[in-house]
Amino acid sequence: MKIAVIGAGYVGLVTGSCFADLGNDVVCIDNDTEKIKKLNSGVIPIYEPGLDNLVSINTLEGRLTFTDNIEQGISNSEVIFIAVGTPPKDDGSADLSAIENVAKHIGASLNSYKLIVEKSTVPVRTGEWLRGTIEKYNRNKVEFDVASNPEFLREGSAIQDFINPDRVVIGVNNEKAAQVLLKLYEPLNAPILVTDINSAEIIKHASNAFLSMKISFINAIANVCDLAGADVKKVAKGMGLDNRIGEGFLNAGIGFGGFCFPKDLDALIAISNKLGYDFNLLKEVRNINDKQKLTPIVKLKKLWPSLKDKEIAILGLAFKPNTDDMRLAPAIDIINVLLSEGSKVKAYDPVALENAKKIFRNGAITFSETPYDACLNADALIIVTEWNQFKYLDLLKVKNSMKDNILIDGRNIYDPHKVNKLGFRYFGVGR
Ligand code: UGA
Repeated sequence: MKIAVIGAGYVGLVTGSCFADLGNDVVCIDNDTEKIKKLNSGVIPIYEPGLDNLVSINTLEGRLTFTDNIEQGISNSEVIFIAVGTPPKDDGSADLSAIENVAKHIGASLNSYKLIVEKSTVPVRTGEWLRGTIEKYNRNKVEFDVASNPEFLREGSAIQDFINPDRVVIGVNNEKAAQVLLKLYEPLNAPILVTDINSAEIIKHASNAFLSMKISFINAIANVCDLAGADVKKVAKGMGLDNRIGEGFLNAGIGFGGFCFPKDLDALIAISNKLGYDFNLLKEVRNINDKQKLTPIVKLKKLWPSLKDKEIAILGLAFKPNTDDMRLAPAIDIINVLLSEGSKVKAYDPVALENAKKIFRNGAITFSETPYDACLNADALIIVTEWNQFKYLDLLKVKNSMKDNILIDGRNIYDPHKVNKLGFRYFGVGR
């Protein structure tokens, strides 16, 4: 099929490259001319394992192209995926202005039947509004359909998630649109659920909110475990073995970040409120997460009356491993509080340093080239992101290079007994 993907961010680039890899002709469109120039010269603007390879193969074989000419991209395509950003507004609701802008271009460029598919995460009923907006600019009254096909890609494993999804959700309001998307996804051999558009839109928000709720739930249980002297890892295992609960997303830690869970939680709270339902449960999920991010500080303050001039090593800055994404990363909240308390911070991350430097400017913190360098002379070490390389550090070397011996394991990656034996004072989450 001839496909246009509008928006060459995480979602658009992965979706476009994967559809090209399945044999379709894909054009990725973005109004950021610099980004398109980079992509056309083989530079991938984001870190996503496997993406550079996928882009270069499919570009070379002529199935994947990039342009900033939206009209041309649209008029040559049969299916148009909208993958532009839907950032939060001040009240938490989703800002749909980028989608509105794209809808105007689509309406004005329609030259034959096209299926327009929402890939971006949007509030329920956006499909109806999208149809109306496109229609307004569709002067030639060309036939088109709107569909919802939410993405369930995780940063860091997005390509695997695309190729091997737990499910594909297709929200349509007629058979013709359903057939186009069923044919497109046929090669994946994945379970496909066809629904109406409103339900598909809610499936995406509800799934992210439910996963956020699982994380906040286990973090709340971790806090109880800390008080009771139990081990949250064992508790999570015992709970997860019940098929009705499931083991996934029960890793206690210092909270969730990234641009999906926090934003989608707020957006679902906002749209529910607009529709007349006060979603208090989700507000508490958010509150628990906000507090959880700062638990390393609470632990340090129990040890020391003041954090002034304490040297703190931070290992991991990205909101999770295998990404360079710093958006709403717990590291930002932790470092900001440490700086406001007068601590000195040295930080290391395998790939997010460049993005972190844009957030912490003017030498506010020191960035280290190796994890060992970050820990040199530190009073305390905080593990913020569970990169694999931190699991295999020479912890004795780390301990011997530190001034004091506090280890705050924000992601429960170490065995408390083993690290205590090395001379650390270990503080995990709920164990
Ligand atoms: C999430 C969803 O998992 C995807 O299905 C969805 O498509 C995506 O949002 C989106 O809406 O675009 P992502 O934000 O990339 O994906 O990352 P996750 O792997 O879900 O992790 C989110 C956060 O939860 C991270 O900060 C992670 O550290 C935290 N987390 C996750 C925990 O604290 N404990 C867990 O057990 C799992």
